[in-house]
Amino acid sequence: MQITFDDLASGNMAQQEAKNRLEALKKEIAYHDRQYYVLDNPEISDYQYDGLMRELLAIEAQYPELLTADSPSQRVGGEALKQFESYTHRNPLLSLMNAYGTDDLREFHQRILNDLGTDTVEYAVEYKIDGLSIALYYENGVLQNGVTRGDGITGEDVTANVRTVKNIPLRLNIDLPVLEARGEVYLPKASFEKINAQREANGEPLFANCRNAAAGSIRQLDPKVTAGRDLRAFIYTLMHVEGANPAAHSDCTALLKEAGFTVMEPFISSDIDAICDYCMYWGEHRHDLPFDIDGMVIKINNLAQQEALGNRAKNPRWAIAYKFPPEQGITRIKEIVVQVGRTGAVTPVANLEPIFLAGSTISRATLHNADFIAEKGIKVGDFVVIQKAGEVIPEVVSVVADKRDGSETEFVFPDVCPECGAPLIRVEGEAAYRCSDTMTCPAQVREGIIHFASRDAMHIEGLGPAVIAQLLEHGLIANAADLYYLEKEKLLGLERMGQKSADNLLASIEASKQRGLAQVIFALGIRLVGQNVAKVLARNFDSIEALKQADTETLVAIDEVGPKIAESIADYFRDGRHDAFLQKLANAGVQMRQEAAETLQDGQENALFAGKTFVLTGTLPTLDRREASAMIEAAGGKTSGSVSKKTDYVLAGESAGSKLVKAQELGIAIIDEETFLQMLNG
Ligand code: IVH
Repeated sequence: MQITFDDLASGNMAQQEAKNRLEALKKEIAYHDRQYYVLDNPEISDYQYDGLMRELLAIEAQYPELLTADSPSQRVGGEALKQFESYTHRNPLLSLMNAYGTDDLREFHQRILNDLGTDTVEYAVEYKIDGLSIALYYENGVLQNGVTRGDGITGEDVTANVRTVKNIPLRLNIDLPVLEARGEVYLPKASFEKINAQREANGEPLFANCRNAAAGSIRQLDPKVTAGRDLRAFIYTLMHVEGANPAAHSDCTALLKEAGFTVMEPFISSDIDAICDYCMYWGEHRHDLPFDIDGMVIKINNLAQQEALGNRAKNPRWAIAYKFPPEQGITRIKEIVVQVGRTGAVTPVANLEPIFLAGSTISRATLHNADFIAEKGIKVGDFVVIQKAGEVIPEVVSVVADKRDGSETEFVFPDVCPECGAPLIRVEGEAAYRCSDTMTCPAQVREGIIHFASRDAMHIEGLGPAVIAQLLEHGLIANAADLYYLEKEKLLGLERMGQKSADNLLASIEASKQRGLAQVIFALGIRLVGQNVAKVLARNFDSIEALKQADTETLVAIDEVGPKIAESIADYFRDGRHDAFLQKLANAGVQMRQEAAETLQDGQENALFAGKTFVLTGTLPTLDRREASAMIEAAGGKTSGSVSKKTDYVLAGESAGSKLVKAQELGIAIIDEETFLQMLNG
């Protein structure tokens, strides 16, 4: 930008010039965003692109009054929010009927022909993207609101996060006064793997699949986190438009594409056989795609025919989703090994002959416990059917008995711990065997420290499983309390530990001293004391010392604490070896007394869920557990891990299991996510 004499003479001129340059830069950057993210056809180098962006940011920094919502600078994520506003959709978001095979598809087709009274009808067929639906509202070409589905009527306004999705235009390419589009926000598989690798290194819980990761990302209160997640969107419906007059779904996708969105090119056909073949083809080849799909969507192409058929309460009559069956495969169990967890629980794991299933190579499957192996009749050397149903760890469905040749051997559960040799014990009424040496078993020690440092406990950033293993291996720590006595010089001797990472690690260890009583109680890893019980204990006792002094009667008098938990707490403190550990934490300056802020907040008794206890079960469509629990707590409620007469609500999602059955037996209110969000939104 050239500064002229006039510019200098009048501040206004300079601003006018800055404004012109800014407009030009916005257009140019939007153009290159589209070339890169939508058309996959970049024309300039990253370096040149960064140059444009830097210039734009510099002008906006100098003239903040010129900053507008459609500026590409908004994609990096603005201020964090306290909560999302709710937003009532201009048209409800419906869902689709499901077809579980080609017979269902043909039946659907026959019904359409009957209802329309014709003998031929044209369909548009697209991928059913496994992400989460989003409604986008544009006015005069500028993105105004991006809203989640919610209950279909009211969603959450996640505009700040939607702006970070690089292939959603902030300003449309063509002049359309009003546009309302629907689509699916998703995470590409490669980005999902990257995020999970990062989370694993940080000791954070992994996302089960791309959909959960996408849902967790779009509902982040801090848009900067969302911006770092590489979300994308496919737009599949033009819900409403002024300034154009499309006659078919395929016209809509063409218009949307011209406007700057990424769309799927629909397969257009009137031949139901060809459509069935197309769906089955993608059922087999879906893993060749760089994103997850869970089926195909078949829509009538002609919009007038769509309108003539209309909608039912929740689904349109003119479309159907062809759902792929869960993927199964058959492979052999090479051996069964056992793994020791933090609490000493010993889990049998099958090492499999590697098999490529659901997009990844699988070589292990959990066998849960000895009862599971007995129930399924699993032997070493058996061929088994395995299935991946949206979980990280695949499961064994059944044994293929007629593939046995007599060489299979019975698995004998070990009677000593594979890591330390201590005897295994089985507690009455429990499925798991446990290692009896809780203090020195290396597996338990290692897992215990991983737990101590994890996000929900002391949240020591940069201290994941790999670093912990290194520290133990080099004898720098023997337990979690030793973390607070680490010296920088010694850390520098570790592999891949430079000055900066050592400083960062020590700083986050130092910061963890202030997490507070509830976190410390949870971090101790006392059996049966989860996050929620830890919080309850912290509310009832003002220090670790006070908790230690409490007898079991005092403990069971607390609402959420049953006799088993009380016994487990007493066991922990009875073991003298824990005294030295706790003393060491205290000497290091770890905060182990109640902070004023931790006591039960006054005024909480009037909150929406005050005094209400929730149990979460199954996978919710958009929320992950942590989010749902946080929302319940923010509204004054509590979450508990098991269903009892004291439970007020069971919030149930997909594949909910025994907790749901128990809730039904006890007649406890069972709600789904939609209802839950409705309750929260009043
Ligand atoms: S059309 C009336 N097309 O699938 C609903 N939906 O229950 C019109 N989805 O959560 C939806 N890919 O977000 C349509 N190509 C596609 C889709 C798609 C994924 C999702 C949608 C909704 C669910 C349908």
